[in-house]
Amino acid sequence: MTDKYAVIGNPVSHSKSPLIHKMFAEQTGQDISYEAIEAPLNGFTATIQQLRAVGFKGCNITVPFKHEAFTLANELSGRARAAHAVNTFLFQNEIILGDNTDGVGLVTDIEQNLSHKLLFKRVLLMGAGGAAHGVIWHLFNAGAAVIIVNRTMDKAEKLAAEFEGYGTVFAKSYTALAGQQFDIVINATSSSLNDALPPLPQGLFKPDSLAYDMMYGKQTPFLRFAREQGAAHLSDGLGMLVEQAAVAFQKWRGVSPDTAPVIAKLRA
Ligand code: ATR
Repeated sequence: MTDKYAVIGNPVSHSKSPLIHKMFAEQTGQDISYEAIEAPLNGFTATIQQLRAVGFKGCNITVPFKHEAFTLANELSGRARAAHAVNTFLFQNEIILGDNTDGVGLVTDIEQNLSHKLLFKRVLLMGAGGAAHGVIWHLFNAGAAVIIVNRTMDKAEKLAAEFEGYGTVFAKSYTALAGQQFDIVINATSSSLNDALPPLPQGLFKPDSLAYDMMYGKQTPFLRFAREQGAAHLSDGLGMLVEQAAVAFQKWRGVSPDTAPVIAKLRA
């Protein structure tokens, strides 16, 4: 019998996850279905109950339900706890296991696909919302020093305080970045959604710096700015999307798909 999975979001019709998981399933010979399901904004829990009632084995969770998923899970992985958000459910009898594969997806994309090692690197993480929170623990795990920058300073300070015990972390305002340089600059703000550029000062990039926008699908103002500022390496978040999906697929099915051909196909 075909095992059923889905991604739950609102809106969700634009999601590439069904296509990604279809390619993973074909590649690994797994008999699964995977669909995009839009839950009403006030109906996330009810949607999950319906999925379980009709025998779904698990699902991914995307905007805006990742925090609600965190509170709904009966058991949480360590990385979901650190992220304060859940993007993957595994339904096991009466139990909902909650995991978060976003951070490992980002780090795998940066280190393996883009060949930028994070150990001892100075990483500027832009944003202090859910997207930044979801990945910061993994940046520390990979050995990076993290500087969090946010327009609203107290949010950056709160996030830095939460992760103080994990490694080197500072909270900064955008103006305080003047005169500093970073090995990797990650845009975890929602600015690209609105075609806006965070108020970055000039001179942040070294010639071999990597500029990484967690958004995918279009040339963002941040990546344009980074190119103009001389960053040689630029990436959108498509690789992160595929890598986080691969970790979820592995958790559900016990096999790791090969992500490179899937990323290549989505870029073609
Ligand atoms: P998400 O879950 O995508 O992180 P969020 O929790 O609403 O969404 O957080 C959005 C983040 O993007 C915040 O850090 C926000 O900065 P503020 O806290 O100062 O509002 C940041 N952000 C959004 N638009 C931005 C812009 N044009 N320039 C800089 N930061 C921006």
